Amino acid sequence: MHKPLILVTGSNGQLGWSLQKIATNYTQYNFLFATREQLDLSNTSTIADFIHQHQPAYLINCAAYTAVDKAETEQELAININAYAVAEMAKACASIGAKFITISTDYVFDGNGTMPYQTNHTTNPVNYYGYTKWLGEKLALENNAATIIIRTSWVYCEHGNNFVKTMLRLMKLRTEINVVNDQIGSPTYAPDLANAIFTIITKLTDNQFAGIYHFSNAGIISWHQFAEKICLLAKLNCTVHAIPTSAYPTPAKRPKYSVMDTTAISKDFDIAMINWEESLKTCINNLENYHQ
Ligand SMILES: NC(=O)c1ccc[n+]([C@@H]2O[C@H](COP(=O)([O-])OP(=O)(O)OC[C@H]3O[C@@H](n4cnc5c(N)ncnc54)[C@H](OP(=O)(O)O)[C@@H]3O)[C@@H](O)[C@H]2O)c1
Repeated sequence: MHKPLILVTGSNGQLGWSLQKIATNYTQYNFLFATREQLDLSNTSTIADFIHQHQPAYLINCAAYTAVDKAETEQELAININAYAVAEMAKACASIGAKFITISTDYVFDGNGTMPYQTNHTTNPVNYYGYTKWLGEKLALENNAATIIIRTSWVYCEHGNNFVKTMLRLMKLRTEINVVNDQIGSPTYAPDLANAIFTIITKLTDNQFAGIYHFSNAGIISWHQFAEKICLLAKLNCTVHAIPTSAYPTPAKRPKYSVMDTTAISKDFDIAMINWEESLKTCINNLENYHQ
């Protein structure tokens, strides 16, 4: 039997790794997990050929320029990968009838909201990285109206570099740390997003679903609350002090409020949103046996 191919870019990133981990549960598909070496998105002229050569039925774009602070100065590389490469992928998918799924960010909003952002809330990127992702969204939909865009926030998992792993490392080294308490959002455990993406794919019978969706774990917290819970669950002896953003300046501005309303993805694909504490527990338990 011919199995449809799912092509995944950025296979060594947090989300790419998470998709690989659970792909074995989806035996009805073939998979091609492409690393940066196999498909370098900064070389936009090679993208269409790669897609035409492999003829995927689905393309999940997990690759991105994610160095938020560095993007302020490495603008050309960031915009090539996060916007122009996304346009190429969208176009190539449209030309072979492949479904294109790409990931975006809460940083497309300015962070001045006070209520969870709806998918059609006005965008106003908070920094250059956010601008490149916003342009990627726009170009994807212009080149392929059937694109599914999933905005997510505060991504972490066992693999790669993220807030949870940084906190665990610092909390083992120090007795006190400072974490900002005036930036509010919702964490996302990458394997939960990976499961949601596979659920979406198995429910896509035609192009009835397209456009922008939001996905994160359920719950609204500050980075400080997140850090305190990490410390508690990992049973570490460290005092987590709350500090304002003004005491922790970064090259790229961060949003004050970046909570997204996830009702649409839940409703259209019957996806239950797992609470952030439950997923954090899973990750911290798994990390005891994880060696990168
Ligand atoms: N991390 C977050 O907190 C967060 C928040 C909101 C949205 N997002 C979005 O969620 C998606 C997944 O993020 P993630 O956390 O999984 O990111 P990640 O762990 O930083 O992984 C990004 C992947 O992109 C690859 N990549 C970078 N430049 C590339 C290039 N020129 N060609 C091909 N691949 C390239 C990296 O390759 P190497 O492994 O070779 O470096 C890496 O595998 C991205 O779209 C990101 O913008 C992330």
